[in-house]
Amino acid sequence: MKYNFDTTVNRENSNCVKYDLRKAVFGNPDVLPMWVADMDFETPDFAREAVMERAKHPIYGYHFKDRPYYNAIQGWLLRHHQWEMPTEWMSFVPGVVCGFNMAVMAFTQEGDEVIIQSPVYPPFHHAVTGHGRKLVYNKLKIGVKGYEMDFDLLEKQAQTAKMLILCNPHNPVGRCWTREELERLSEICLRNDVMVISDEIHCDLVLPGYRHTPFATLGPEVADRCIVFHAASKTFNLAGLATSTAIIPNKAIRDTYNKYVEAMEAHLGNIFGKVATQASMEKGDEWLCQLLDYVQGNVDYVSDFLLHNLQKVRFFKPQATYMMWLDFNGYGLSEEELWRKMTQEAQLGFNRGSDFGRDGSGFFRVNLACPRAIVEEAMRRLKTVF
Ligand SMILES: Cc1ncc(COP(=O)(O)O)c(C=O)c1O
Repeated sequence: MKYNFDTTVNRENSNCVKYDLRKAVFGNPDVLPMWVADMDFETPDFAREAVMERAKHPIYGYHFKDRPYYNAIQGWLLRHHQWEMPTEWMSFVPGVVCGFNMAVMAFTQEGDEVIIQSPVYPPFHHAVTGHGRKLVYNKLKIGVKGYEMDFDLLEKQAQTAKMLILCNPHNPVGRCWTREELERLSEICLRNDVMVISDEIHCDLVLPGYRHTPFATLGPEVADRCIVFHAASKTFNLAGLATSTAIIPNKAIRDTYNKYVEAMEAHLGNIFGKVATQASMEKGDEWLCQLLDYVQGNVDYVSDFLLHNLQKVRFFKPQATYMMWLDFNGYGLSEEELWRKMTQEAQLGFNRGSDFGRDGSGFFRVNLACPRAIVEEAMRRLKTVF
């Protein structure tokens, strides 16, 4: 079956964050919204059908996750990431953000240092500061070929830190970390007894030519000291269904974590997320393959357009995620002036770079999970104003 990613779906007036909160976020209800990380593509038919089938039952009471649900996730991780694991390693969590916040609370104390690699997804920052932990920035370096980890700095920071929250692959810079990079990071963390929380929500969105390495597959010692978070939400556009998985190989860590989650009743979840996730992981291989080709087409389009028309905008092509991280510092404008030009003149709703850390100032994150026609219109508007 050939899926059609060119179809435009009207999302207005559906309580949709990306469209219906434009006035509040950008001060302009007419921006072309290319921010929040969900997709403007229809959630695939097999996921919607599973939800509709379950919705037909007249009672939406408490439910539990059964064997076929976990089998579907195991099968997916094995087929797509060559990662085989027993069912008991997996626990339900509503969202990955909720999951890593609970890990911070369960495994660190107030005042403990937690490392993040900025610029990075804003909730990474809040998960540390929001619970009175101390934020340590292991800032990414910009190399000739793209963003790189600063291992020398990490060597020093790991001596006193308790935890590192890894974005694997990385949002917003789009790096699909290589096995070698992850091995080096894990070696430093293991040697210094720094627990690694690996957020792998974007791991299925690795673009052609790259390959994701699940952090826990680096070896038994590494697996023993980490938690990995996975979800079908980014991959299949299910974010509103709040259904994700914590994967915890070490039994003691797992027991502590699960006790914490269960005490808050955060392990229950919702019936629709369960069936949509299961159906997606069982039936979504071909859909994902076509989605990635389409997203790569959008990335190529934007890259060519910028190279030919707006050479002051600097960027590296993403290796994963459907986001592009664009550097507008070449214009020599203040952040406020850039924001005004982008939102009021170009009428474009991109994420503000400094929300990802101070080092993101002058950058914008652009969500390319949308029909090509929207991408083309965005580029036209950029060219006119910049
Ligand atoms: C790196 C990363 N982690 C987590 C999330 C959100 O996860 P959830 O909706 O499951 O809390 C996002 C969404 O953009 C993300 O980019």
